[in-house]
Amino acid sequence: MLVSATEMLQKAKAGHYAVGQFNINNLEWTKAILLTAQELNSPVILGVSEGAGKYMGGFDVVVGMVNGMLKDLKITVPVALHLDHGTYDGCYKCLEAGFSSIMFDGSHYPIAENVAKTTELVAAAHAKGVSIEAEVGAIGGEEDGVIGMGECADPQECKAIADLGIDFLAAGIGNIHGKYPANWKGLSFETLDAIQALTGDMPLVLHGGTGIPADMIKKAITLGVAKINVNTECQLSFAAATRKYVEEGKDLQGKGYDPRKLLAPGFEAIKATVKEKMELFGSVDKA
Ligand code: 13P
Repeated sequence: MLVSATEMLQKAKAGHYAVGQFNINNLEWTKAILLTAQELNSPVILGVSEGAGKYMGGFDVVVGMVNGMLKDLKITVPVALHLDHGTYDGCYKCLEAGFSSIMFDGSHYPIAENVAKTTELVAAAHAKGVSIEAEVGAIGGEEDGVIGMGECADPQECKAIADLGIDFLAAGIGNIHGKYPANWKGLSFETLDAIQALTGDMPLVLHGGTGIPADMIKKAITLGVAKINVNTECQLSFAAATRKYVEEGKDLQGKGYDPRKLLAPGFEAIKATVKEKMELFGSVDKA
């Protein structure tokens, strides 16, 4: 059964580790992430962007697929199904479809409007036992057409949003979606420290987990980050493994074109990436 992400993230914050949010794109992705979480006895959050939800056929398809896998694959570790960077309308659609967690990304609205919409969505989510993440300060880079500039959040604005009853907070600290450019200045730990000082026990979320060096990840966790989002890195490892299989001509040998064979190396590559991240984040054996 899907669970809200509140309890797993409160435990993570108190225990000084982070739970990974791994975005899903299709059945192979979902199965690879769930099986790895079960093997490592780790809680996990499956992230779904609105674009990926549409690609998979719609939010009802996603909920049906994930619930079916939890049952048939006998997954017993805590799993949350979370809308990533949700719009106002997208949040309501996911609450209706059966997601157990949502993110309302109101970071592009003026702060007063972000506050008003977040307040309303907190009530709607909590009425269904669903957890809710909000965002202050745009995350840099591009994800599914949503482009942010990588600004650092204002700690006072973070406190204002945290006080609305949300369950965890994404705050920009110089992080970027996708690959980091060579001239990236790194995470702003000063900003993170100031945000944690004002938001106390609130679990903080680090978006753009792909390509952040291990020492920065570890330091961010010591400063209150309890959820780390990873998307691009699984896509890169899936693509590299699939490319190798095809370039070696394996799809042309025997029944190598069978999707169960063609997609197997990519599937294994996602599993390896998720395992590496769970070990780095410290969530192994925390289910
Ligand atoms: P990356 O694609 O950089 O890993 O970012 C993922 C993310 O933050 C999803 O919200």
